[in-house]
Amino acid sequence: MSQQKIHGVWSNSWIFVLAATGSAVGLGNIWKFPYMAGENGGGAFVLVYLFCIALIGLPVMMAEVLLGRRGRMSPVNTMKRLVEEGGLHGAWTSIGWMGVFAGLFIMSFYSVVAGWAINYVITTASGTFNGADAEQVGSIWGGLLNDNGTLLLWHTTFSIMTGVIVALGVTKGLGAVARYMMPFLILALFVLLAYGVMKGNMAAGLDFLFNPDFSKLLYKYVEVNASGETVACSGELIHCEKQLTYEPTLKALGHAFFTLSLGMGAIMAYGAYMPDHSNVAKTVVTIGILDTVIALVAGMAIFAIVFANPEVSPAGGPGLMFQSLPIAFGSMAGGQIFGTLFFLLVTVAAWSSAVSLIEPGVAWLVENKDYNRWVATLILAGSAWLLGITAMLSFNVLSEWTPIFLFGKTPFNFLDFLTSQLMLPLGGLFIAIFVGWKMSKTIVAQEMDAEGHPLFEIWMFVLRYISPVLVGVVFVFALIDSLS
Ligand code: TRP
Repeated sequence: MSQQKIHGVWSNSWIFVLAATGSAVGLGNIWKFPYMAGENGGGAFVLVYLFCIALIGLPVMMAEVLLGRRGRMSPVNTMKRLVEEGGLHGAWTSIGWMGVFAGLFIMSFYSVVAGWAINYVITTASGTFNGADAEQVGSIWGGLLNDNGTLLLWHTTFSIMTGVIVALGVTKGLGAVARYMMPFLILALFVLLAYGVMKGNMAAGLDFLFNPDFSKLLYKYVEVNASGETVACSGELIHCEKQLTYEPTLKALGHAFFTLSLGMGAIMAYGAYMPDHSNVAKTVVTIGILDTVIALVAGMAIFAIVFANPEVSPAGGPGLMFQSLPIAFGSMAGGQIFGTLFFLLVTVAAWSSAVSLIEPGVAWLVENKDYNRWVATLILAGSAWLLGITAMLSFNVLSEWTPIFLFGKTPFNFLDFLTSQLMLPLGGLFIAIFVGWKMSKTIVAQEMDAEGHPLFEIWMFVLRYISPVLVGVVFVFALIDSLS
């Protein structure tokens, strides 16, 4: 009897680690982190990002797991239950609600990018990149961005792939995906790293990523153009002015949430599977380290290639991974097979992340509205798919469509901004305040299994005073920044 119990607990604990790692490791690490670092000044961005992971991401992740495990339901109902338990104001359940929408919004552009990766599986497998130089790779990439038929096909395929897994309700089966895929993904990234050392310009890559220059993070160059608008400095404008900006700092903070899948209930939903007495803190630190290492290795591999090819700009934006890695695949021995495998791994990593984006909403529809899982999935994945079409068109027909109500951004950039820079940090802020200040400290200590442990006191202190204050300060400064 006791043997069985121990066995059950073990396997459950692993399910959580694998599912949460599957959720955390995805496009955020391999696609988004490198291009964000490239656009926002490199080393200083990376340093702030690492700082945010340690002082905000990990403490908040522990809090989010703890909420899920205590509530043991979908995020919306978990919050309802804990609000009732503590006799708190019903407004706190908005943490769950906001998460359902944040997940839907993220999914809409996430599946477009995953679609690019699927397309690259085929392009690489067909040998199109063999021997291609930076310029040829760039034009293949540009061609894809303008091919709406192909983009729609893969955006739709990825949405269906994700929907099927969510509808089957096999979040547990996903553990297996993560378990077998993750070692291969890490191995593939290290092979690319080795390529970068041998054929790329690793010295320049490392310097860019790890030698912080804070003036690049904190200042932007602007000028007032002929019609009186303040615009970014371009080659033709001559009266450039240096202006303090907190936007890149907020982006680094937001990315810490994005990459750890924090602030929208995904980790809460998975926390519900965690056994009562497994160690939350240790598990979360493991996931955090794994996630960070994967992002840094991807970044080093990509920038070593970027700096060996002057045609590719480090600040090239969302296309960075797609414009740099194929150059390596095209020139290395066995690159056609290895590259195909690599993009396949990226697709699977994206898949196991995407599931956690719509799971909270589906779980709520099933619990409260008594919907069939397939119908619930169809509603959520369908809405994300539809919204995703605007993200897909943001790189061609809608690239100039930057209306005021989207804060002057394309739909793609707006969806990213709204979620990474507003909803996720806000969700995290509320989670920190809820667990740090609103829940009974006795219950929290019990859940952490750490009554009186010195590390528990430190975590509590960080969660109460450091994480929320940092998020708040960055928010306020970035807000003032965008209003002035
Ligand atoms: N963390 C994933 C990545 O890095 C993306 C992701 C999955 C996510 N679920 C999430 C981001 C929930 C925020 C919230 O690719």
